[in-house]
Amino acid sequence: MTPTEPTPPLVQVEDLSVYFDAGRAGFWGQERLKVHAVEGVNLEIRAGETLGLVGESGSGKSTTGRAILRRVPVSSGRIWFRGKEITHAGREEIRGLSRHMQLVFQDPYASLNPRLKIIDIVAEPLIVHGLVKNLHEAAAPVARLLARVGLPADAGARYPHAFSGGQRQRIGIARALALKPEFIVADEPVSALDVSIRAQVVNLLQDLQAEYDLAYLFIAHDLAVVRHISHRIAIMYAGKIVEIAGRDQIYDAPVHPYTEALLSAVPVPDPPVQRARRRIAYSGEAPDPLHPPVGCRFQSRCPLVSQQCREKTPPLAERQSGQWAACWNR
Ligand SMILES: Nc1ncnc2c1ncn2[C@@H]1O[C@H](COP(=O)(O)OP(=O)(O)O)[C@@H](O)[C@H]1O
Ligand code: SF4
Ligand SMILES: [Mg+2]
Repeated sequence: MTPTEPTPPLVQVEDLSVYFDAGRAGFWGQERLKVHAVEGVNLEIRAGETLGLVGESGSGKSTTGRAILRRVPVSSGRIWFRGKEITHAGREEIRGLSRHMQLVFQDPYASLNPRLKIIDIVAEPLIVHGLVKNLHEAAAPVARLLARVGLPADAGARYPHAFSGGQRQRIGIARALALKPEFIVADEPVSALDVSIRAQVVNLLQDLQAEYDLAYLFIAHDLAVVRHISHRIAIMYAGKIVEIAGRDQIYDAPVHPYTEALLSAVPVPDPPVQRARRRIAYSGEAPDPLHPPVGCRFQSRCPLVSQQCREKTPPLAERQSGQWAACWNR
């Protein structure tokens, strides 16, 4: 590598598609059904960077994150981590990758085994990866992790039911951090939490990012949550990225009508800014993931729809430096 050559992104995804088998249809079962969960997704995440991934429920956000972590099979496309292709990584390689890439789950109530003490939960990855020999050796590193995420000193000896939602999410974060990963998929980490404690958890993730040079794929279903933590934001609709840009570009000068619709739902403290924002109201049904339409997937809800939108898929094209959008009429 020459000195002027940029280092490769930490995570690189090219033309990723994930389809789930959904059985057969038709009188003779002649039609094989598949859920078009993710289709043709391209993205990059650099070391220490947060890419926000935003879209409504069912748009393919979790599947994208899990595909990168190699937790769901990739139907087509390619994925690289630290410049090495991992699209077809086998079981052993995926186990090794889990030292570097971790998942923080959406639901802190469902993701912690209720029968295990917190020390067992947080020590497990350390023991599985052979970094400590037993629970006794794990005690000190686990105590440090629990303190770092702001939990009380006796937390390790207690069971998940003793903790609030916000504290459980801190436990999940401590477990994800145990192996000192470089990349975390945070899948709606605050969606299940009370509004009053969301900011605390987001701030913790932000502090940890600075401390450990962590990169995040931070998933959320609305734009309000990702604003402060994201460097760039990708907007997903019905399995596709419809806009990807720097954080300020998304908030101040969105291109895609769906991005605008999501933004109209975000309260702005400054009334003139709120008034100046183009308001996009959309109605209608989301496309059927088993039979997505030809052309733009937002067509059934878009106030700007034209004939071309029903015939051809708009490509994700660069509009401003670093701002890409897929729309024929913007
Ligand atoms: N394991 C699975 N089997 C079948 N369909 C799935 C599976 N996981 C997700 N899906 C479907 O894929 C689509 C995208 O889901 P998901 O990635 O969970 O969306 P999001 O995280 O944005 O809510 C949805 O239609 C969902 O029902
Ligand atoms: S391509 Fe057409 S339907 Fe799709 S977002 Fe743009 S204007 Fe709307
Ligand atoms: Mg999800």
